[in-house]
Amino acid sequence: MKKFNLALSAAVLTLAATGAQASCESGERVVKFSHVTGGTTHPKVVASNKFADRVNKEMNGKLCVELYPNSTLFGDSKELEALLLGDVQLLAPSLSKFGSYTDKYGVFDLPFIFKDMDHAIRFTQSSEGKELLTEMDEYAGFVGLGYWMSGMKYFSANKKLEVPSDAKGLKFRVQTSDVAKQMISAMGASPQAMSFSEVYGALQTGVVDGQENTWSNIYTKKFFEVQNSVTETNHQLLAYLFMTSSEFLDSLDSSTRAQFMQIANDVTQEANQSVKAKEAANRANILKAGGKINTLTPAQRQEWVDTMKPVWSQFDQYIGKDLVKAAAES
Ligand code: LMR
Repeated sequence: MKKFNLALSAAVLTLAATGAQASCESGERVVKFSHVTGGTTHPKVVASNKFADRVNKEMNGKLCVELYPNSTLFGDSKELEALLLGDVQLLAPSLSKFGSYTDKYGVFDLPFIFKDMDHAIRFTQSSEGKELLTEMDEYAGFVGLGYWMSGMKYFSANKKLEVPSDAKGLKFRVQTSDVAKQMISAMGASPQAMSFSEVYGALQTGVVDGQENTWSNIYTKKFFEVQNSVTETNHQLLAYLFMTSSEFLDSLDSSTRAQFMQIANDVTQEANQSVKAKEAANRANILKAGGKINTLTPAQRQEWVDTMKPVWSQFDQYIGKDLVKAAAES
């Protein structure tokens, strides 16, 4: 009995830590959704919760989504492999994390290619953008379900950054993206690729001096607490590929599959419609919590553009010049 109680409390604690809210019934197919973000106001958290709620209500008895946010099931380095192994069925990794599979997603990382999120959304809805959604399907086993926008990115550091030369000699955490690495080098700084779950600790202990991310990640992961300030550079997009595996999709009968795909599509559209408001709210949350935000004069902003945009010429031949043009002109 004692043993049972201990096991039960361990299970309850695990559930609390992972945020796996559903209690799946026997006979239901469990669908694990793993991601790396946290908090309650993050666009990916809100969208994944919404997806789970809808599937668990509307497909009750058939499918049951369990959520594992905050890298509690798999972190950045393991999640794609886990999807192929069938250890998880849903992911939403940043498009910057597919470099070992495709060069084409580098288009989303090019600095200053998108003026704002509306521009990025227009590109994802263009014929070129739609075609890219299934780019990962070429790699046996992955299926792109939709793009989930997250926000534009901003630099933070342990000193105030106004112009790129302020970053000279600093170390910045980046995602595993060659474009991001070159962009940081162009500032005279050093890029250090690391998993998202390690960033707070690395900033706190000085392993890196700065990072680049959205308002939602900077707020929900409390990066602003261990940085001097965040500079409103607006230099790059962060967006996700909401994805599953062909093994999972193929295992569903056609009506279950159609219902699942419909919910995925609805949630994707709804998430992208509300993402700007979520980002604005998390920017305000940073200020409310005592974080500092530096805005740029047009001349300062131009310096960032002039420093980072030349990086395009190192990648456009691999990404495809037509694709870069289509994204820039969307
Ligand atoms: C990052 O690694 O900075 C982001 O991709 C995390 C996320 O999923 O928003």
